[in-house]
Amino acid sequence: MCGIIGYVGPKPASPVLLEGLRRLEYRGYDSAGVAVLQDDAITVRKKKGKIDEGIARTLADQPAPGTMGIAHTRWATHGEPSDENSHPHLDASGRIAVVHNGVIENYEHLKERLLDAGHEFQSGTDTEVLAHLIGVHYERLRDGDATPDLLNEAVSAALREVIGTYGIAVISSEIPGVIVGARRGSPLIIGIGEDENFLTSDSNAVVAHTKQVVFLNDYDVATVTAGSFEVHNLGTDTADVQISKLEFDAEDSQRGDFEHFMLKEIHEQPRTVENAIRGRIDSEGATARFGGLNMTPAELRSVQRIIIAASGTSWHAALIGEYIIEALAHIPVEVEFAHEFCYRMAPVRRDTLVLVISQSGETADTLMALREAKRRGHRALAIVNVVGSTIAREADGGIYMHAGPEIGVASTKAFIATLVCLELLAIHLGRMRMLSAGQATKTFKGLEALPAQIEQVLAQSDAIREIALKYAEADDFFFLGRGYSYPTALEGALKLKEISYIHAEGYSAAEMKHGPIALIDEKTPTVFLVPQDFMYDKTMANLEMIRARKGPVIAVASEGDEQIARIADDVIFIPKVRDELNPLIASVPLQLFAYHLAVARGCDVDKPRNLAKSVTVL
Ligand code: G6P
Repeated sequence: MCGIIGYVGPKPASPVLLEGLRRLEYRGYDSAGVAVLQDDAITVRKKKGKIDEGIARTLADQPAPGTMGIAHTRWATHGEPSDENSHPHLDASGRIAVVHNGVIENYEHLKERLLDAGHEFQSGTDTEVLAHLIGVHYERLRDGDATPDLLNEAVSAALREVIGTYGIAVISSEIPGVIVGARRGSPLIIGIGEDENFLTSDSNAVVAHTKQVVFLNDYDVATVTAGSFEVHNLGTDTADVQISKLEFDAEDSQRGDFEHFMLKEIHEQPRTVENAIRGRIDSEGATARFGGLNMTPAELRSVQRIIIAASGTSWHAALIGEYIIEALAHIPVEVEFAHEFCYRMAPVRRDTLVLVISQSGETADTLMALREAKRRGHRALAIVNVVGSTIAREADGGIYMHAGPEIGVASTKAFIATLVCLELLAIHLGRMRMLSAGQATKTFKGLEALPAQIEQVLAQSDAIREIALKYAEADDFFFLGRGYSYPTALEGALKLKEISYIHAEGYSAAEMKHGPIALIDEKTPTVFLVPQDFMYDKTMANLEMIRARKGPVIAVASEGDEQIARIADDVIFIPKVRDELNPLIASVPLQLFAYHLAVARGCDVDKPRNLAKSVTVL
């Protein structure tokens, strides 16, 4: 959510910043702006709207010359999307420019103080208050010429007054060649180039320039020049600086020949499954192996209960994980929204393992849940996609999804990768308990067959589009299923809502009769998940109830199911797989269905309104 890129080096900064903004746009796209420094003057350009229609055009008409600068793409938290509320923001003197991700919780109190001192504000944002506060300390601490230390000290002093979260980049017109960055609760990364350096909130923005990065820690303040960087920590005064290597290429986050990132990522899913399985199957022991759980077999064996905390699509993956782990490992699992877990007083037994799931590894709610679990003394593991992300670093151990960069705001391949990780974890835990080698091997074989089976579903994309077009005018949809298909239905409904803005409700096919069935009529289609699994007959009975009320039915059913073809209006056939693998195959047509419907309705699939890829505010 929101993206920061800063550059200092020999090249013209604006094109580097603009390219970085494009790579960050999936993080927020309400507005964007740059502040570039040349000859002791900062040029600020900022514009409401997506990058190509907004800031890119502005810069083409009114260039911002200079070889260092900072830039930001915004997802509004304080103040509506507008030119004024876009970042960067300046201090009262106009010498200091700031870009900021996060929320300054005590900004109103700070603003009042500054207003009393005569400050005037141009925007309604918390960030402008922070810029002014830095400016106040800059003046107070100044003793003669402005130096890099002065900017660093002014930023540090201001941050000591701030309650909330921030990832910031700051420049002063009096101190060319220096960017100061700081983080608390919102990611910030130094990209180390040759005679040039970068500051960014997301390694995607710098990977085309360098693979050497430093992931800053909370309370770190960094001073970055073209040839050096220095980090100190506001809490400990010494900083833990480690240079990491990015393990993906700039091309991995390119759209290639696909019309949208979402479509590209849907089509990557056969590889996603392979990558998530690779090296993790111990055929001899008929179990899964992981490099980073950091728990002994005895510790894992003593786990009596698991709580999974997550948000959004990751929460749906967690719900499916509940079904999988309970079936394969016989360990009771409870799934919590990450934010609920943090704030309600749920009694959690000592022998409980907490697992958090997050594609980005930065979702603030999920990070808080992880910290809360650790504070309560629990072992907390994480399933994460982004290597080096905050959740990955703070968890006691975990499993990487290895899905590669996911740029489409609506998560697809990371969801599938999470499900693979949960299957493997369930087998790992199950084999320490009652799961037989034979059962585990069958699930492994099923997992290994999945890539080819997903290809089969992808090959039906055109047919799925035809079905989607038939229903493109519908205002409401239901997504129904039972057993494993119930949480899969929830995810199918979320995908449709997110990218097509059509009202869609995921529901248990059985629970439907206890109320929501009142909403069914000939204009309300239902996507029915009815694979030939242990719930088949019962789900079919529920389907009949919808038909009896004239509700159109689009069935997602197992190949060869002749009965369904007679009852449903439209059928998407999927390969028959083991029950616990059904969500991994049934989700794919739902993703394609949502995608084609959204395209048909003219929606911006990769940048749905009001959403952001990673939500780093609470
Ligand atoms: C945001 C995104 C969702 C995503 C959720 C959790 O709300 O729009 O698509 O599922 O965050 O993200 P995470 O990175 O923690 O999996």
